[in-house]
Amino acid sequence: MKEAITIKDKQFDLFIEHEVIEHEIMRVAQQINTELAERNPIFLVVLNGAFMFAAELMKEVSIPCEITFVRLASYQGTTSTNKVKEVLGLNEDIEERLVVIVEDIVDSGTTMTTLLQELTVFKPAEVKIATLLFKPAALKKKIQLDYVALEIPNDFIVGYGLDYNGYGRNLKDIYKVK
Ligand code: IMP
Ligand code: MG
Repeated sequence: MKEAITIKDKQFDLFIEHEVIEHEIMRVAQQINTELAERNPIFLVVLNGAFMFAAELMKEVSIPCEITFVRLASYQGTTSTNKVKEVLGLNEDIEERLVVIVEDIVDSGTTMTTLLQELTVFKPAEVKIATLLFKPAALKKKIQLDYVALEIPNDFIVGYGLDYNGYGRNLKDIYKVK
C-alpha cells in the first residue's frame, strides 16, 4: 500500500491499514452475532459510503437476517434553504422489525438523526446503528451508536468506501488529509 496519495487538490497520508479495519469489523460482527441472534434483524446499508463496510461486515454476520440498501437524497425544500433528506429505495416492510442501520461514518450526527427520524413513519420495532467510523469530537447531536468499528479524531479521511469529491472509495486502506 502507498504511504501517501493525492486526490485532486489534496494530499493524504496512510492512516488505518485494512488489516486493522477488518479486525475491528470482525469484532463488531461477533458482537452482532451474540446480541441479535434471536432478533431476525434487517440491515439497512446506506449507500454509497457503506458499501465496503457492509460487504466485509455481512460476510462475518452468521445469524438469520435480511440486507437491503438505501440512499439518502438531499434536495432543497420548497420554502427555504433547509436541506431535506429523503430515504430512497426502501421497498421492504420494516414494521415491527429490528432495523440495523449500516453507515460509513458518523461525523456531526446530522445525517443519522435525520435518517432515524425518517424511519419512524415505517414503524420499526427498534433501530440500532452500526458505523464503520465515528468522530466523537465532531458530534453535535445526541445519538446512541450501538456498534462502532473505529473511533477517529476530527480529520477528513478517505478510503474503504469514503470519498473525497467522489474519488477514493475504492482504497482498501483509510487515508487522512495532510
Ligand atoms: P454527518 O451528517 O455530519 O454525521 O456526516 C455524515 C456524512 O458526511 C457521512 O455519511 C459522509 O458521507 C460524510 N463525511 C463525514 N466525514 C467524512 C470524512 O472524513 N470523509 C468522507 N466523508 C465524510
Ligand atoms: Mg454517508
